[in-house]
Amino acid sequence: MNEKIAIYPGSFDPLTNGHLDILARALKIFDKIIVAVAATELKKPLFSIAERVKMIKTATLNLKNVEAESFSGLLVDYALQKKANALIRGLRAVSDFEYEFQMALMNRHLAKHSKNQNHVETVYLMPDEKYTYLSSTLVKEVVRLGGDAKNFVPKFIELALIKKFKSSHAKIHL
Ligand code: PNS
Repeated sequence: MNEKIAIYPGSFDPLTNGHLDILARALKIFDKIIVAVAATELKKPLFSIAERVKMIKTATLNLKNVEAESFSGLLVDYALQKKANALIRGLRAVSDFEYEFQMALMNRHLAKHSKNQNHVETVYLMPDEKYTYLSSTLVKEVVRLGGDAKNFVPKFIELALIKKFKSSHAKIHL
């Protein structure tokens, strides 16, 4: 039987407990999940791509069937190259919906019109209620302003955030 492979794409700047919650749910459905950090030039991330991939690898060391790497270019091309025909995204609130809806349909269109006319579907998973208000952007702001992020990210990521914000020019990257 063919392995069911899904890509979990995102910026992951940084990975949060909300992302880990979605990942755990996705692992119940798929045989293998590739957490894929987008190398986009549009956003100004706080952590480098290598740092983000490393953080994901560390946080998922105890999870079987999870890989982490970066990708550039179109997500669908990357997914098809990895023989994945599903994309995982977390859906927290109605405010996420419009952007997610557009992306899902665009990705489906792009895959269908690709060389091999492949199929790519996006699977949306809802995180535990306690993460519905959580985002990487908010975690960065909380830590930057001296707040406690222990319930939002793994400890080693909280420490990495504190270290980043110790250099004052990092404060502009929110
Ligand atoms: O965590 P984010 O920032 O919401 O993730 C957005 C991401 C990385 C999934 C999206 O920007 C993306 O897929 N980028 C790759 C380039 C691409 O394929 N763009 C067209 C998507 S419709």
